[in-house]
Amino acid sequence: MKTTFTLMFSSFLLLVSLNAQEKKAGGEALGSRSYDDFEKPASCGKSCHVDFYQQWTQAMMSQAYTHHWDEIEYFKLAVPHAEKDPKVAEVKAGCNGCHSPMAFLANDVPPPKPELNSRANESVSCDVCHTITGFKGDVPYNFNYISEPGKTKYGPREGVVSPAHKTQASEFIQTAEFCGTCHNEKDPYGVWVKSTHLEWKEGPYAKEGVRCQDCHMTKAQGQVAQLAPQVPDARQHLFHGAHDPGKIRGTIEVRIHPDIRELEPGERIRFTVALFNQKTGHKFPTGSAEERLVWLHVEAIDAKGNVYHLPVDKKGFKGEEYMIAANTLAYQDLGIPLDIPDFKGIQRDGVPVGDRIYRLPYLDPQGRMTIMQWNTASLGTDYRIGPRETKLETYTWTLPANAPPGLLTVKATLNYQKLPLPVAEFLGVPLEEAEIIEVNSHTTTVTVLP
Ligand code: HEC
Ligand code: HEC
Ligand code: HEC
Ligand code: HEC
Repeated sequence: MKTTFTLMFSSFLLLVSLNAQEKKAGGEALGSRSYDDFEKPASCGKSCHVDFYQQWTQAMMSQAYTHHWDEIEYFKLAVPHAEKDPKVAEVKAGCNGCHSPMAFLANDVPPPKPELNSRANESVSCDVCHTITGFKGDVPYNFNYISEPGKTKYGPREGVVSPAHKTQASEFIQTAEFCGTCHNEKDPYGVWVKSTHLEWKEGPYAKEGVRCQDCHMTKAQGQVAQLAPQVPDARQHLFHGAHDPGKIRGTIEVRIHPDIRELEPGERIRFTVALFNQKTGHKFPTGSAEERLVWLHVEAIDAKGNVYHLPVDKKGFKGEEYMIAANTLAYQDLGIPLDIPDFKGIQRDGVPVGDRIYRLPYLDPQGRMTIMQWNTASLGTDYRIGPRETKLETYTWTLPANAPPGLLTVKATLNYQKLPLPVAEFLGVPLEEAEIIEVNSHTTTVTVLP
């Protein structure tokens, strides 16, 4: 009896695992579907999910393939590089696994350029997400989601009836792992070049059960479709992040204070700046960390209006040279896809020399800083601001001997940029991608004695 049961049970397990094995995910899913397997977002949004559709069209999810900078990076850099260097050949198809999942699944590689208006432009569409049923492996990364397009759409609620399709409640779509299938990435060198989900998992929010959806798809009283009843917790489809200055603003609290309140010209003073990450569920910056720039600028203005720039005190940790803005060249590996032999590089930072930078340097096989994440052979020191972490910076400064008496006002400003300006200018990326967003600032005063 017992053996029969064990036999039955183990063959059941075998069946279950065979079934899971048949489901393709990640690289092996290339060419396993066609565009026709998926519905168009416009048909979801036409008369039923009107609001979610309009939110989605304003989010980066709907532009992951068509956005100007994505187009430039893929067609000008990644594709030519993949065609030259066998080590990174896989990214020609792979980029699309997350940016245009239908094109990847249909093996339409490289997809037609955005101007040709093909279905690749649908990017991360409604039907892509709502037919994902799980992921394969232990860690979600590199588009290892299982895609099962069809009449059944997976969502968060039980017992939902729709005139347009079947619905099924899914635990998976409500997890952070669901997002992690595209928000964690390992490059051809085996380096984690995107780890938003892993950062979240190690941080305080995962322990408290606060998921990605709770901050990027917030709940509100409303309808999830035109004919649906009002619910108190309709999941908004905002996916607001780096391209929403309002999401960036206030992410980090900034406070500055001096060690003395009165000083004479020629005397030394020390300011301390405290930066508290109160808003992000992962590190700041996260995701495309190879190209995000966060820097702290401190300036003093005396009673006569003279402006002094205060450089940050060195802390002396390994790799700190990347964390202090300098007049130095980087990104020499851009010369490979662009066919510029012995390319000297371009300015690394383009922000005031001496300012503190919060970043994770991505290094190419020659150890030079790169923004081509797929060409990253190692990472430098991680000096980003973790969730709920506070970082302190000090500024030791000698007041010039000729400073006038009166109030000295000292301001600390934390700035954010999606793409360093020298890179945007060099590659012809529209400059809005390099706009400077003020995250926060704070001011203190001291008195200069006569
Ligand atoms: C990036 C993936 C993604 C995309 C793209 C996406 N959704 Fe969703 N959607 C989700 C997730 C995740 C949830 C559930 C969140 C939760 O409850 O935790 C959800 C929930 C829903 C719900 C149920 C909401 C509720 O509160 O019950 C509907 C309806 C829906 N989505 C429709 C759409 C439509 C229509 C589109 C396209 C315009 C779309 N979704 C695009 C991920 C996505
Ligand atoms: C099928 C892949 C995929 C899945 C699943 C996915 N994303 Fe994304 N997401 C992307 C891509 C690709 C981008 C980058 C768009 C761009 O800038 O090109 C992105 C961008 C974003 C952004 C940044 C928007 C900005 O303003 O820069 C946020 C926030 C985000 N996703 C949240 C989520 C959340 C939350 C989930 C889970 C509910 C999720 N994503 C699931 C592929 C995905
Ligand atoms: C406690 C709230 C919170 C949680 C939880 C959270 N985020 Fe965020 N996220 C933010 C805030 C605030 C920002 C804007 C600041 C920034 O860019 O980091 C942001 C930014 C982002 C960005 C844009 C980053 C960039 O530089 O382009 C992405 C992508 C993103 N989040 C994805 C996720 C994913 C995926 C998860 C879950 C694994 C998640 N977030 C969990 C608050 C949160
Ligand atoms: C594992 C999924 C995944 C793969 C593979 C992937 N990306 Fe992304 N990519 C994302 C996500 C998610 C974001 C948004 C992260 C963020 O906003 O911080 C992103 C952001 C970007 C951005 C930045 C857009 C911006 O907001 O500034 C560019 C450009 C880009 N990817 C191009 C590429 C190229 C080119 C490749 C192939 C070499 C590639 N991606 C491979 C998921 C992926």
